[in-house]
Amino acid sequence: MNNHQDQDRHWSLAAVRYDELFLDAFQSGVENPLWAELDALADPGGGAVADLGCGTGALLPRLVGRFQKVYALDFAPAMLVKARKRLGKEAGRVTFLERPMHELGDLAGALDVAVAVNSLVMPDVRLIDQTLRAIRETLRPGGVFLGVVPSIDAILYHTMLLMDRALGQGASPVEAERSAAFHAEHALYDFAFGRFRFQGIEQKFWHPFELRHRLAKAGFGSVELGQVRYPWDESIPGGPEFAGHPWSWDWSFVARP
Ligand SMILES: C[S@@+](CC[C@H](N)C(=O)[O-])C[C@H]1O[C@@H](n2cnc3c(N)ncnc32)[C@H](O)[C@@H]1O
Repeated sequence: MNNHQDQDRHWSLAAVRYDELFLDAFQSGVENPLWAELDALADPGGGAVADLGCGTGALLPRLVGRFQKVYALDFAPAMLVKARKRLGKEAGRVTFLERPMHELGDLAGALDVAVAVNSLVMPDVRLIDQTLRAIRETLRPGGVFLGVVPSIDAILYHTMLLMDRALGQGASPVEAERSAAFHAEHALYDFAFGRFRFQGIEQKFWHPFELRHRLAKAGFGSVELGQVRYPWDESIPGGPEFAGHPWSWDWSFVARP
């Protein structure tokens, strides 16, 4: 099994510079279908929700007040410190759980909504399967699991655009491949197995077929996929030059047992 002790430490270290280091699915300008899903689901004042792998808590202000009970779980203590700080006085309305996401036995049958945004990233797929099963078991009848996972195919799309840009600038195919691989940071990825390693953090990146497969394997009978779409901006190498092309994406899903 993956040693989550080691990963929680690396994630905690990343908390300080989180906003610089990670794409934010909640940032303004990003098209995130989860907002509409949450709006459609949330019975004002009712229900229980858990933000699993809540990180610095970007989603939590949207959950507090809409749900009667809000859990915020993360295994990285420094992330939870930032999440509490973001919430200020409202932090008292949230139950913070510092633990890995597969440890959900005490929440079995307790949730109406489970959310995991870019946190189903354990590099050991056995741990992903175990986590998905644990999440399914937290849901009450009629409950729903919403999430976003990092897309590996979007990295290949970015690579294609970088290739075309270099060819357009007169590079040979060999030079264009080298340049695209450099700017898309291929050295940090294992494309065959969908993994990304950066500053000690190892993350799983997903193809849509694997998302469907693992959710079904964990007992989710209904799975709808969508996309969180990111505008091309300066945070992405070559970004502003790709403005006329379809945006990059992560995979979002709505899953029901
Ligand atoms: C990329 S961040 C996303 C944070 C937040 N959901 C957001 O979208 O802003 C991933 C978060 O998941 C947490 N995480 C990763 N694997 C985890 C696990 N196995 N158990 C609990 N938390 C985990 C990390 O500590 C980190 O805070």
